[in-house]
Amino acid sequence: MKTIIDYKSIVESKLKEYFEEYKANSSYSSKIWDAMEYTTLLPGKRLRAIMCLETARLLGLDINKILPPACSLEIMHAYSLIHDDLPCMDNDDLRRGKPTNHKVFGEAIAVLAGDALLSFGAQIIADKSEFNNDVTLNLIKEYISVSGALGIIAGQVADIEAENKKIDFENLKYIHKYKTGALFKCSFMFPILASASDKQTKDMLIEFAENFGIMFQVYDDIIDCTLTTEQLGKTAGKDAISNKMTYVSLFGLNEAKNIFTGLLNKNRDILSKLSIHSDIYEEILHSLDKKVYS
Ligand code: IPE
Ligand code: IPE
Ligand code: MG
Ligand code: MG
Ligand code: MG
Repeated sequence: MKTIIDYKSIVESKLKEYFEEYKANSSYSSKIWDAMEYTTLLPGKRLRAIMCLETARLLGLDINKILPPACSLEIMHAYSLIHDDLPCMDNDDLRRGKPTNHKVFGEAIAVLAGDALLSFGAQIIADKSEFNNDVTLNLIKEYISVSGALGIIAGQVADIEAENKKIDFENLKYIHKYKTGALFKCSFMFPILASASDKQTKDMLIEFAENFGIMFQVYDDIIDCTLTTEQLGKTAGKDAISNKMTYVSLFGLNEAKNIFTGLLNKNRDILSKLSIHSDIYEEILHSLDKKVYS
């Protein structure tokens, strides 16, 4: 049985291997690859890839086969972080405890590094997939749909447009569902698309995934105003400074925590109804809960 640490190191060493391989084939300077690699390999929790690998294991898939799509999730995530931090977006100086991509490489290269990562994730699935062509095509379609204007970008647009405004709860849920939830759902959709499990199990995993994605962004909204910059590895209190619409700004900190707990309990309920048990899911839920109430 693999632990979170095992999964994390499997993903990180595979990501390093991919960068090394593709960088070596680069026709021009390696600068763009350095920028792409920088944010991707800075210390992150790797939750999206870990969720993908664990879900694959639960559905009886070979972990090695799901590894390229799992790595593509971290690549897509890094793209979204680089662009999210740009001066024209959230304007952040710190990410994963280090200067943001544009602070190190300049804005133009940071934009291009985000773009390049967006393509690179899909390329990794296409080049490295060991699934048959039908499954591989479905994985690529899922990647494209989640990373583009039907997924993360829809949420990011709504997030940016809600700055300095008061929006209603439905609108806020939309932002969280897309800017963050879409990618977490993809962590589950990849193994679901690649496995032949029964519909009921798949449906319940999707319900878990959708609920988890929103819960994760509520957690992020909460810790933005309760933890320190050092603990976060990103600037504390940034949402309030930027006048962002979050669960904390709409409901207040205490109610946001209650909502988080409600979503957490719902996820535990879904897990208890599944005939499969995952220590990894449990551990992840527990670690988020601990931080919200620290
Ligand atoms: C940060 O995600 C972006 C959000 C969706 C809130 P994580 O908190 O998973 O960041 P890393 O990958 O661990 O750095
Ligand atoms: C995360 O929203 C959404 C994406 C990165 C797509 P935030 O803007 O709250 O994420 P952090 O707090 O900067 O990590
Ligand atoms: Mg943002
Ligand atoms: Mg941000
Ligand atoms: Mg945030």
